[in-house]
Amino acid sequence: MRSLVCDLLQLRLDEQPEGKLHKRLYNAIRLSILDGSLPPQSRLPPSRDLATQLRHSRNTVLTVYEQLLAEGYIVSRSGSGTFVARTVPDSLLFTAETASETRHDVRAISLSHRGEALLAHSSASPRQWGAFLPGVPDVGEFPHALLRKIHNRVSRKPQAMQFSYSPFGGSCDLQQALMEYLRVARSVRCTPEQILITEGIHQAIDLVSRMLCNPGDTAWIEEPAYWGIRNVLQMNGVALQPIDVDLSGMDPPEEIHTPPRLIFVTPSHQYPLGCVMSMERRRRLLAIARQTGGWIVEDDYDSEFRFSGQPIPALQGLIDDAPVIYTGTFSKTMWPGLRLGYVVLPQALAQTLKTAHAELYRSGRLLDQAALAQFIREGHYTAHIRRMRLLYARRRQRLTTLITQYLGKAALSEFNDNAGLHLVLKLEDHHDDIAIARNANEKGVLVRPLSRYYMGDKPQRGLLMGFAAMKEEEMEAAFKVLLGCITKKDINK
Ligand SMILES: Cc1ncc(COP(=O)(O)O)c(C=O)c1O
Repeated sequence: MRSLVCDLLQLRLDEQPEGKLHKRLYNAIRLSILDGSLPPQSRLPPSRDLATQLRHSRNTVLTVYEQLLAEGYIVSRSGSGTFVARTVPDSLLFTAETASETRHDVRAISLSHRGEALLAHSSASPRQWGAFLPGVPDVGEFPHALLRKIHNRVSRKPQAMQFSYSPFGGSCDLQQALMEYLRVARSVRCTPEQILITEGIHQAIDLVSRMLCNPGDTAWIEEPAYWGIRNVLQMNGVALQPIDVDLSGMDPPEEIHTPPRLIFVTPSHQYPLGCVMSMERRRRLLAIARQTGGWIVEDDYDSEFRFSGQPIPALQGLIDDAPVIYTGTFSKTMWPGLRLGYVVLPQALAQTLKTAHAELYRSGRLLDQAALAQFIREGHYTAHIRRMRLLYARRRQRLTTLITQYLGKAALSEFNDNAGLHLVLKLEDHHDDIAIARNANEKGVLVRPLSRYYMGDKPQRGLLMGFAAMKEEEMEAAFKVLLGCITKKDINK
């Protein structure tokens, strides 16, 4: 069975793809010991298992273990296995002083005020794969070989143009394929000309905020909201006004003092809480945008994954010519490192924002886009989503069962909808979800603290737990590690 240690080491190996295999594995284990990811006395996988999991030869693993044994990082106990040593060679430990010296060096660099603010709120995790990491699809389940085959086919007779910068808006084939897909799957109303291919939602938000907001302009964002979007907006000088979310979604104020230039919402599946925006709220937001001349930015990041009931149609398609900028991504349906997403622009903005996009980002990858268009056209994209929907539904059910079995039903947030790639485990207000998440992270369980998603000083406490990228049979072991970091009294009863 695949272990957390194997996952950790695989991640470390992926972080340094260059160099000889045994050297990379040696570094991966040594650094994990030194930074505490593998704490003293933790057990290393048997060499045969590790070799199988990492697809290395057993000899490579044995050579590395021997070297680490000789240097005192690990010890071998006959009959019971290989363990991290109780104390590791002192001279090599990252001491508190060296850490603070490094920090001091970074501080000495003079950053812009925006840069300082960005780093002060930075939340991106250095680990992007592992137990319960929220929002990650199972990239191993994607039919990579099939997409490669299609890619080879479309690359056989490429046109010179396809190696150049992207024409304004991206590949026409992909725009056409997306228009057809979005009309059926998401009830989005548009022509292919309204679609702009981006490098993901982050880039779409960057473009939209730079082009539509002057520094100091106000944008409404959900409270709580995805920190990534917050960072992009703050970096562009946009003044953020957090608007509370209840079970019906964003609840706009009755009186509007400063009209919002942009309104950021996740109506189909509120991020991170999980609720769906009611029809009444959708209509209210559309009315506000119409009255104030602002734009709603709809972030439809994971709405393909709804495990019961009917799909929730996009806000964009609710009325003709809605003042909505619709953003979507392949990060959840395919894989995040692909860096491909799309924006459906209102007619009035389409040409202008496409021109600005070409000026700012000089994007390309037209062959990748053509292959993806073909992949969608031939029905493989929807087939993959259908298969993942069934798989993720089972995984979600397994995690729900574990939470209720060990912590009681009340530990499941009432906001959780039967959808998405993560759910929220609820904690009482006085508990420190940040400390719990940090502790769990150190043990290789990558949950995220709910309170970090709030701007205001009344955050709800909880943990975001991803379930999509974890096999059902692996969940219980990792869940028990998490349980060791929270006590029963942390849970709402
Ligand atoms: C709500 C939400 N929007 C957008 C994104 C990022 O999308 P992309 O990878 O396309 O930039 C994420 C990533 O997790 C997200 O959670």
